[in-house]
Amino acid sequence: MVDYDAFSKTHLTIHAKVMDGMEVAALVNAETAEGMKKLRSDGISPVLAVVYAGSGYGSVPYLNAIKKACAKMGIGIEECTFSEKTPEKEIISKVTELNNNPLVNGILVLFPLPEAVNGLSVTQAVSPSKDMDCITPHNRGLFVLGKERFAPCTPAAIMRMLDYYGISLEGRDVVIINRSDIVGKPLFQLMVARGATVTLCHSKTKNLKQHCLEAEIIVTAVGDRSKFVLTENMVREGAVVIDAGMDADLDEIGRSASYVAPGVGGIGPVTVAMLMKNVVAASSV
Ligand SMILES: NC(=O)c1ccc[n+]([C@@H]2O[C@H](COP(=O)([O-])OP(=O)(O)OC[C@H]3O[C@@H](n4cnc5c(N)ncnc54)[C@H](OP(=O)(O)O)[C@@H]3O)[C@@H](O)[C@H]2O)c1
Repeated sequence: MVDYDAFSKTHLTIHAKVMDGMEVAALVNAETAEGMKKLRSDGISPVLAVVYAGSGYGSVPYLNAIKKACAKMGIGIEECTFSEKTPEKEIISKVTELNNNPLVNGILVLFPLPEAVNGLSVTQAVSPSKDMDCITPHNRGLFVLGKERFAPCTPAAIMRMLDYYGISLEGRDVVIINRSDIVGKPLFQLMVARGATVTLCHSKTKNLKQHCLEAEIIVTAVGDRSKFVLTENMVREGAVVIDAGMDADLDEIGRSASYVAPGVGGIGPVTVAMLMKNVVAASSV
């Protein structure tokens, strides 16, 4: 739990409003809890399977947050852990088993998978009806058409955060620093659908600083400060900054930005809440 009072006391120069992911997550969770009540009365106990492989796994805090949220919501969790050297077909075979298990309602594959494993092959193996992060080609196609059943969790969380703070997207200039399939690309779709003009930046982008300076809203999700740090001199006065990758120098940026979503206690809890929501939706058929 982030202590925002302590945050603002120790960051006396911060003027920006700190976007509180715990508050937004609590709202999403309250909606999900209603769905859970109905499921319980129908005798359904939702179960989420989480598939991941490899050592030094980057998403461990995410996994811990998922476990905590499942316990709180009353959702069962089945962890399917594989070593770095597990052959791809073994992971796919587990995913197929989960697809066919009527007691499992949702499947989340955590990336990155080991280099030798073809992520698309694993992704394609997930049943679209259990695909909790909208990664299957079928669901992603529907998503691009605006007809998805399950929204990709992090992009949906970012949109929910912006909505909660009344930050409209229509006509706004946005920079997203990430072009991955789970963050940047789907977020681009959602924001363009709301009327924003979105520039998708990445490691090959020239003049990244210039792009950022022109943006009214910046979402950064690089996740490696040895590669990229968003600094105050890249952010224009009054901008909204969402840090989904612990990339931003928010103490300084907060002096001139209008809103900041911190790397801790910002988008993360809302992402997990969106995942819980998807699991309950997948169990409600
Ligand atoms: N808070 C949350 O809910 C949440 C959810 C999901 C992910 N995340 C975090 O977001 C981060 C990224 O996750 P991911 O799975 O999308 O990782 P990823 O696939 O490694 O994506 C990283 C992105 O950063 C770009 N990048 C790398 N170096 C850069 C540089 N110097 N300048 C500009 N862009 C650069 C990469 O560009 P290229 O494509 O050119 O390599 C890529 O698009 C991680 O920290 C992850 O933990 C947070």
